[in-house]
Amino acid sequence: MKILVVGNGGREHAIAWKLLQQARIEQVVCVPGNGGTASLERCQNLFLSVDDFEGIGKFALEHDISLVVVGPELPLAMGITDYLQRQGLMVFGPTRLGAQIEASKAWAKALMQEAGIPTAQAAVFTEAQPAKAYVEAGKVPIVVKADGLAAGKGVTVAATVEEAQSAIDAIFQGQFGNAGKFVLIEECLTGQEVSVLALTDGLTIRPLLPAQDHKRIGESDTGENTGGMGAYAPAPLVTPALMQRIDTEVLQRAIATLRKRGIDYRGVLYAGLMITPEGDFKVLEFNCRFGDPETQVILPLLETPLEDLLLACVEQRLSKLPPITWKTGAACCVVAAAGGYPRDYQKGQAIKGIETAQGLGACVFHAGTKLEARRTEDNSLAPSPHPLTPSLVTDGGRVLGVTGIGQNFESAIALAYGAINQIQFEGMYYRRDIGKRVLSVKF
Ligand code: AMP
Ligand code: GLY
Repeated sequence: MKILVVGNGGREHAIAWKLLQQARIEQVVCVPGNGGTASLERCQNLFLSVDDFEGIGKFALEHDISLVVVGPELPLAMGITDYLQRQGLMVFGPTRLGAQIEASKAWAKALMQEAGIPTAQAAVFTEAQPAKAYVEAGKVPIVVKADGLAAGKGVTVAATVEEAQSAIDAIFQGQFGNAGKFVLIEECLTGQEVSVLALTDGLTIRPLLPAQDHKRIGESDTGENTGGMGAYAPAPLVTPALMQRIDTEVLQRAIATLRKRGIDYRGVLYAGLMITPEGDFKVLEFNCRFGDPETQVILPLLETPLEDLLLACVEQRLSKLPPITWKTGAACCVVAAAGGYPRDYQKGQAIKGIETAQGLGACVFHAGTKLEARRTEDNSLAPSPHPLTPSLVTDGGRVLGVTGIGQNFESAIALAYGAINQIQFEGMYYRRDIGKRVLSVKF
């Protein structure tokens, strides 16, 4: 079986790595992949852009690809699944209509309201003036959101009316392009955020282990928002009883309402939830894909072969599969970022120490890395270049995700930090407090 994975982040490296643990996976092709996917045995990078649907489709048909797994939201929102399905390919990931659950916050909010899914109160505006008046009449803090995809930068949690109003202006003045045609003004929720990712075939939905992400750049959750600086799973905050409620009140309702709208949603439905101090919950957002870095802690704990789950979703037979099984214990992922991220940062710094980190037993997932000298542009399926360390350089803001797995959080966190301490590149930055809040949890 040959599988094509679309994307180039830590998430896609983790997906490829997990798929390749099964001998029956002959080959994984990553489009465009990164330095980590290029270094995996039986894995190949294909240098096409994630929105080159025609190129991806042509390659997949010519090379007998059995399944295409789409990592990022952008190609999903652009309709990669619709396009590839029309070519006769099997695709894991929702169609363009389904991807609206992430690509339009106004659409997702209306769906949640229709479905009776607990979520923050919100109002939608198409012009600045009424939005500003609404803010003035309300309470602060208040949350201002651009409707569309804005690479994680479209949300402002405003402490003052002035801050909220300038966020509204920025959105309507086109800071996020088309993503800013609508603005949502939302009540500000407090508590802890958790990510519940679930697999669905459009009829049945099965949650994966709950995870918690660390979104801010600085320790103790301070500073700017990022794509995610680390994660751990299973999140102890989500007790089995709470997961049961999330399953019934969020996941099942979402799928039922999508179906009511005629949307056959097959892929990951990711609910970002706020767990209130009283132990109740509300949905902050839905994503239409695997989380990053959550995937780097969830997949290392998964025992069921990943391709069985993905294929069951695509073939709409998830209900026939036995329950998903997991390793006992915990996983913690610490992200190594380029100095300056999430603002300007340098690329092209040599990375050292990955093999030593792996030697300690950690999984090192690559995000913004590339093999500098060996990059080929001919899209051939020549063997991956080995060894990779000497020519591996940084190529993005989040560079690596180092995951430790252990019998408990203490050992998982210790392994992740022991391993990341072996890695160096100029300007490397990582948070020292990933998972700290769960250190007392015993298994
Ligand atoms: P979103 O893209 O909607 O998930 O928003 C990005 C981040 O903004 C979330 O992960 C939260 O940290 C924060 N956020 C979003 N909505 C709210 C809200 N209603 N109250 C408080 N924080 C929020
Ligand atoms: N870790 C947050 C996300 O994947 O959206």
